[in-house]
Amino acid sequence: MNRVEGKVALVTGSARGIGRAIVEKLASEGATMVYSCDMEMATYEQENVKHLIMNITDREGIKNIVAEIKEKYGRIDVLVNNAGITKDSLMGRMTEEQWDAVINVNLKGVFNVTQAVAPLMTSNRSGSIITMSSVVGLYGNIGQTNYAATKAGVIAMTQTWSKELARKGAKIRANCIAPGFITTPMTKDLPEKIIEGMREKTPLGRMGEPEDIANAVLFLASEESSFITGHTLAVTGGLVI
Ligand SMILES: NC(=O)c1ccc[n+]([C@@H]2O[C@H](COP(=O)([O-])OP(=O)(O)OC[C@H]3O[C@@H](n4cnc5c(N)ncnc54)[C@H](O)[C@@H]3O)[C@@H](O)[C@H]2O)c1
Repeated sequence: MNRVEGKVALVTGSARGIGRAIVEKLASEGATMVYSCDMEMATYEQENVKHLIMNITDREGIKNIVAEIKEKYGRIDVLVNNAGITKDSLMGRMTEEQWDAVINVNLKGVFNVTQAVAPLMTSNRSGSIITMSSVVGLYGNIGQTNYAATKAGVIAMTQTWSKELARKGAKIRANCIAPGFITTPMTKDLPEKIIEGMREKTPLGRMGEPEDIANAVLFLASEESSFITGHTLAVTGGLVI
């Protein structure tokens, strides 16, 4: 099927893990071009994928990439803010460096990219912005004060954008996805005991796979979700019911 036929997409944090699955999914569903943007190098086989080096804390670098896409296609239809990091510690032991690093990437970085891309959507009066939150942003988690703050923060930013960018009849939507525990390099070092505990608490009885998240992104990127905005879609196997 070609559920995002003709669309131009930009996905951040896509050298591996969930971001990589999102790029592959959008590219296989008919996107004209998927710009895969990460501070790490990666290679893709699909011809409609271009991987670029982008650090989402570098506002100048982001501006240059958006200008390059504008010159080539004149639009970005789908923005997926997926890049994110963790620097976990109990609150009492959390250093200022740990706090600042996570806020800078997960919160300010999402703002940086969206602020650069939004004018293109506004001038075309259409677009879909999808930002990766987390179940931790909805319910908190021991050892993740910094991460939880950012993942709740992106929900509030998304709600704001859903109101700001759709003014005057523009068809610009902004939604979040809140994944549960997904098997990726980010979670691979978690102790087996924690993973087993998660499985037990999850009605569907398994960790999520990157493709579970990519499928939700595909829906929010496509016209099938054209009346959905300002929403946070939990993709957790039921972990947070
Ligand atoms: N894995 C999970 O269980 C889970 C659960 C909830 C939410 N999430 C969120 O989903 C997203 C993807 O998670 P993942 O598990 O695939 O992570 P990951 O660590 O496997 O991959 C993250 C990617 O982001 C890139 N990145 C990090 N900082 C960057 C920066 N400053 N600029 C550009 N790229 C940068 C990394 O190079 C990497 O390729 C993150 O936002 C994460 O918080 C993951």
